[in-house]
Amino acid sequence: MKRPPDGLGPIIALDRRLAAPLHRQLYEGYREAILDGRLRPGQRLPSTRSLARELQISRMPVVLAFEQLVTEGYVESRVGAGSFVSPELRAPAPPAGRTPRPHPGRRRIPREALPVTAEPWLDLRGPFRAVHPAIDEFPVELWARLLARRTRLMSRQQMMYGDAMGFAPLREALAGYLRTVRSVQCTAQQIMIVSGSQQALAIAARALLAPGDAAWIEDPGFPGARDALTLAGARPVPVPVDEDGLDVAAGIRRAPSVAAAYVTPSHEYPLGVIMSAPRRLQLLDWARRSGAWLLEDDYDSEYRYDNQPIASLQGLDTDHRVIYIGTFSKVLFPALRVGYLVIPPDLVARFRRIRAVMDNSPAPLYQAVLHDFLREGHFARHLRRMRGIYAERRRALVAAIERELGDSVRLVGDRAGMHVVVLLPRGARDRDIAVRAAGHGISVLPLSSCYAGRRQRPGLVLGYGTTRVPEITTAVRRLAAILRE
Ligand SMILES: Cc1ncc(COP(=O)(O)O)c(C=O)c1O
Repeated sequence: MKRPPDGLGPIIALDRRLAAPLHRQLYEGYREAILDGRLRPGQRLPSTRSLARELQISRMPVVLAFEQLVTEGYVESRVGAGSFVSPELRAPAPPAGRTPRPHPGRRRIPREALPVTAEPWLDLRGPFRAVHPAIDEFPVELWARLLARRTRLMSRQQMMYGDAMGFAPLREALAGYLRTVRSVQCTAQQIMIVSGSQQALAIAARALLAPGDAAWIEDPGFPGARDALTLAGARPVPVPVDEDGLDVAAGIRRAPSVAAAYVTPSHEYPLGVIMSAPRRLQLLDWARRSGAWLLEDDYDSEYRYDNQPIASLQGLDTDHRVIYIGTFSKVLFPALRVGYLVIPPDLVARFRRIRAVMDNSPAPLYQAVLHDFLREGHFARHLRRMRGIYAERRRALVAAIERELGDSVRLVGDRAGMHVVVLLPRGARDRDIAVRAAGHGISVLPLSSCYAGRRQRPGLVLGYGTTRVPEITTAVRRLAAILRE
């Protein structure tokens, strides 16, 4: 007869030295686990055979304990199917007039530095959803073939714990790519593969900042960066962004000696400004003189529409102050969870140590597939194709905005990336507009929600990564109607 699947049991410490026999200890352990909710109504229990084996006792005490639990109605036994916690059981209500008190041994949870918020526009799937790429254009069949091949070829070695820095051949390939395409100065030894830029930020914050340290962030800026710094105990200092990027002079006026600055020089998130060359040199000069670290987040630099991409900030750095962060979330797909850090040589050992504590090492399989994708030329081909698609979507979006919204708004940030910003007249309530747009199935991000400081410009961040041309035209028309209301 086919055995039913086995369930899992709670941890029960049996002690042969106690006066109570083993079946009694086992019965009490299970009853307690059912009453305090560790075992839920309907949950499958382990078979008496496997439980006896696991506890290294004979089967008899287990059978006796389960029989008792069945007799008392805690457990149901179904022939051929196994044993289950009785589905009718409900957790006992606390006696009337008494509110349950926290367990006396449990500490209070510390006050959370990160607010828990649920912004209505964050979970939407409609047109103009920001920061998402065109995943329906991704070559899934090709990826599936590479993945199947790598899974079959996976060596025993690759099934063990990996290198905390990542899969060596991928790091080599990335170093070559970054040197050529982004003018990043690096060797493969400086590259660490991480689970997206978000993990890169968490590791860098841990490695470079002490609790209480101040760090500049762009304002408006990427909330993910602000939160990573906050979680590391640092104090983010919002610094305004003008048409040249982060305003270094304003930062110096506000907080001249901070431990680090987070910047998105290729395409400021969310305003879309490209940091000018003089501003880059000013930032590097300030970092050199003040001893601050620069966290350069190059999240979507692959997409530029007016001229060739400009070199990374890291490429201009002569003093090893820049930690360069990149991701495959925008150029391939976000669920891949592969990003990378380029670490100054003398900090590599420190970053490696911190990473090993956080999650040991990145999972090897997708890294190996990604390496094949790069080496066999699929990446370059995909990128070229996506540039064409995004350029067309961007053209359609800019034209529709000019046609439908005309002079009532100002368009910024359209020279690169996968989103633009429509600046609204001062006093406009962009959050209300975003909520109303959401009611029509349109996902726009209110610009004011990206500010950490008090001076907030109203506007709408419109992503065109996931939105096809015909949809762009109709959605802008609908948005214009909402703005006129
Ligand atoms: C400024 C910025 N950096 C990085 C990321 C990407 O994060 P990850 O690589 O963790 O997917 C995003 C995505 O939304 C972003 O907007």
